This record gives sequence, C-alpha cells and structure tokens, in this order.
Amino acid sequence: MTAKPRVFLCSRIPDEAERYLRARTRLEVYPGEDLISREELLRAVREVDGLIPTVTERIDAEVMDAAPNLRVIANYGVGYNNIDVEAATGRGLPVTNTPEVLTEATADLAFSLILAASRRLGEGERYVRAGRWTGWKPTQLLGWDVYGKTLGIIGLGRIGQAVARRARGFSMKALYTDARRAPARLERELGVRYVPMASLLRQADIVTVHAPLMPETHHLINASVLRRMKRTAILVNAARGPIVDEKALAAALRSGQIAAAGLDVHEKEPSVHPDLLELENVVLLPHLGSATLETRTAMGLLAAKNCLAALAGKRPPCLVNPEVWRSRRRG
Ligand code: DGY
Repeated sequence: MTAKPRVFLCSRIPDEAERYLRARTRLEVYPGEDLISREELLRAVREVDGLIPTVTERIDAEVMDAAPNLRVIANYGVGYNNIDVEAATGRGLPVTNTPEVLTEATADLAFSLILAASRRLGEGERYVRAGRWTGWKPTQLLGWDVYGKTLGIIGLGRIGQAVARRARGFSMKALYTDARRAPARLERELGVRYVPMASLLRQADIVTVHAPLMPETHHLINASVLRRMKRTAILVNAARGPIVDEKALAAALRSGQIAAAGLDVHEKEPSVHPDLLELENVVLLPHLGSATLETRTAMGLLAAKNCLAALAGKRPPCLVNPEVWRSRRRG
C-alpha cells in the first residue's frame, strides 16, 4: 500500500473540507488564528507533496525551493496573484485555483457594498451605536438611489457578469469595459453595453471593479481616473486592493471629487490605508467576498480535489498553467 501524500494547509478551512482532505492525505494544518509567518511557512513545506495556500501567502521561488518534494500548489482562492506562476511553471509545478464556486457569494458582497456605500449604511450603523440618533428627520443621512442608476462594470468575467445579473433586478443600466469585448449573445443576455473606459467613467453613477490583479491593472484606478468620474459617483472594489491607488482614492473622497466608496479589499492587507480610516464616506470590509460557510466549504473541496488529482498524476480540474501538463505529456 502506498503512503498517503503529505499536504500542508496554510490556514484552517471549514470542517467538511478539512475532513475530506484529512481522510485522503497526511494533512498538516497551520493552527494559528493569525497568518502563518514566512519562517513558519518555509519550515512547514520542507517535506510536503502538496501545498494549499490561501490568497494571503506569497508563494514564490524561495518557498518552492524550500519544498523539494512539492508536486502541486493548489490555491484556496480564485485569484492567484499571490503565486509566482512563472517560477512554478519553470519548475514543472502545477498551480490550481478555485473559480466558479465563489462567483455568486462575491457578487452578493459587491452588491452589498454598492448598497452600503450608496445608502450610507456604515455611517448609519455608527450613528445608532454611538447613541446619536434622536429621531427621524427628512434630511438625515441622505444617500443616493441605486434603483435606475447607471452601473459601470470594469471586467466582465464571471463575477462581473454575476453583478450585472443583480443590476437588472434593480432596473439599472449596465455598461462594461474589458480588455476583450464579450460575445453579443452574452451582452444581450446580461443587458450590458460595451463602452471604452473613458466613456464608462463619464457615464457611470457607480463604478465596480472586477478585474484580476496583473501588472496592467495595478493602480488602474488612480488620481487621473478618479478625476474623470462624476462628482456624485461611487466606487466599489471587491477584486484586489492594489488595483486602486488608495492614497489617491482617499484624497478624492476627502475633496468631494467622488461621493463615496466601498472597499472589500485593500492595497496592503491586512493594513487599511490610514487616510481611509479617517473618512466617513467609505465602507471598509475585511476581504469578505467569498466569506459564507457554503462558499468557503466549496472552495476547500475544490482546492482539495485539485490537489489530490495532481498528486495522483491526473490533470487537476482548475489548472492555471496548462503548459506544465503539456510538457509532461511530451516528456
Ligand atoms: C479569491 O478567491 O480570490 C478571493 O479574493 C477570496 O475568496
């Protein structure tokens, strides 16, 4: 009987997914409530066959070199900007992610931010808890309608599409921009219209970001972009923090260049830009996009299946560097 593979999980995940992995591997899990430190990570990977990081662990050449037996990096997350995929590919290591299972939860959260920022829910909550509410007043905490407004979606991938579907229920007009235009059939189904970025910024009442983090999207939302948005506009980011230049955003929110923002993700997580913390007109969340029990369990099961498939020599369902597999078959 062959020994079960050794797998290291960088953080606790929901029970059902952890049990699934434990039954099939020699599983080690970082038990801390805090994030695993770099030193602990480098130590933990020394003898592992499979590694399951979360989106916060940086998995680069140093980690890969510290793990001579490593045969797969199965990210617990759809975004994999935390992994040096080129370095993995160079070492013949498959990298996988967890798409689709988190689309709806993340779109729900993005829409929650649209509502929360537009209707000033964070301010309202703080107001009540501080005991400042003395009675209903016609001009108290006035926000902006969401219903019937123009939504500008930056990035019409799976999550951007799911946000567009929600926008229909709010009778919104939806525009989108993307490096590649979607097929006409999909545009019709979603009720979205393609426009170049400049036109989206000019027209949108709410701009929501759903692009992956890549060198091309780093600080995509910067001071000059913010200047081109409406003064009444709201910006939402539930994608990746570094897509937005937070210093420029804080300045735009403070000066009234744009009206409000909702951020689930931050440039230097878990730090939140100090300028943003001082502002009332920004809703700040701790990267909760996929944070439902059902979704985080599904992500764990999918990461486990990806990991186990690769360890069994089979092509994992969500391989992000297929060239590794092609060269394997040739070799
Ligand atoms: C991801 O999966 O990329 C999210 O940011 C965490 O769910």
